[in-house]
Amino acid sequence: MTLSTKNELVNVMQKDYDTSLVAKEVEIDFYALSDLELLINGGYSPLRGFMNQEDYEEVLHSMRLKNGSIWPLPITLPVDEAIAKDLTLGSKIKLTYQGEVYGILLLEEKFLPNKEEEALQAYKTTDREHPGVKRLFERGDVYLAGDVIGIKQYEREKFGNFYLTPAETRAEFSSRNWERVVGFQTRNPVHRAHEYIQKAALEIVDGLFLNPLVGETKSDDISAEIRIESYQVLLENYYPKDRVFMAFFPAAMRYAGPREAVFHALVRRNYGCTHFIVGRDHAGVGNYYGTYEAQEIFHNFNLHELGIRPLFFEHTFFCQKCGNMASSKTCPHGKEHHLTLSGTKVREMLRQGIVPPPEFTRAEVAQVLIKGLQDS
Ligand code: ADX
Repeated sequence: MTLSTKNELVNVMQKDYDTSLVAKEVEIDFYALSDLELLINGGYSPLRGFMNQEDYEEVLHSMRLKNGSIWPLPITLPVDEAIAKDLTLGSKIKLTYQGEVYGILLLEEKFLPNKEEEALQAYKTTDREHPGVKRLFERGDVYLAGDVIGIKQYEREKFGNFYLTPAETRAEFSSRNWERVVGFQTRNPVHRAHEYIQKAALEIVDGLFLNPLVGETKSDDISAEIRIESYQVLLENYYPKDRVFMAFFPAAMRYAGPREAVFHALVRRNYGCTHFIVGRDHAGVGNYYGTYEAQEIFHNFNLHELGIRPLFFEHTFFCQKCGNMASSKTCPHGKEHHLTLSGTKVREMLRQGIVPPPEFTRAEVAQVLIKGLQDS
């Protein structure tokens, strides 16, 4: 099944656009810059810009755009009221980051969102302790909406060659003759449980697209800078080179659990994946979501409409009795034989320079992380 070939990518890049004719400009934050980048490069197809109120409300209430396409999370451009009031509907606005113009917004609408409602629908909580909800309330109170034109891509000095557009990753998969490609989202180092589910999936598809999220994350997550080297070390030592391809996903982490799982899947479809891994508590944080809620949400959608097949994995762990990675689907032994460490606990160990057990994380990975965390 090659589901992903069906959807066309929206491409709104116009490098030769004359920005000197546009008078107004708005400085955007790094979160919005990453959304702009994904709107421009087709990562967010079929979106062509920041959502207007109609789409925004439809997304919150039915996980669809007004035109019926599946879309589970708002993609918006929040600004402060003082900035919004000087902007005229129908005008063009330069979107700048650190003074550089990255896009043009064709301002169609400005609206006041109901953030309580947004939090409740998208994140299932209004608790300001939730990192996604906290971020939602920190950002501007007026949403600017309209299609965007891409002026240029944001260039990174480090690891720039890992930032590929969906057209580029599709071309890469096709040059490798991969028809079935499984996408893997992560905001963490790749531990043994991640490796296990990736390799289980690799048994049934042609290639793995390791697509770590490197946009904004909460402050106690391990930074992308530190994670990147750990991915390279792991791939070098434990994965067949011709069956794995890595590129970065520039978006900000929302921590929206179930809805974000669908969002992650749709974007990986755009990158050219046919399958997408959803394990336990995908994109979750704390105890806001049920362990398998991010899998159950997919039952609302028809596979062909999604354009990508989710692959669900149970909670996996190392079983001392089995002597390997397992889940309740493959292991008959009691919990006392299972090694499970929470992400928080592992981050704590690494920060203290303690190497977690090899059954939890590869020693080479742990060394890179410890060094990175000590240097940072
Ligand atoms: S996420 O926020 O990006 O989803 P993380 O990087 O921890 O967090 O997870 C990446 C993917 O691996 C997600 O699909 C998640 O559900 C899955 N996953 C993480 N740990 C486990 C585990 N122990 N068992 C099964 N799936 C897991």
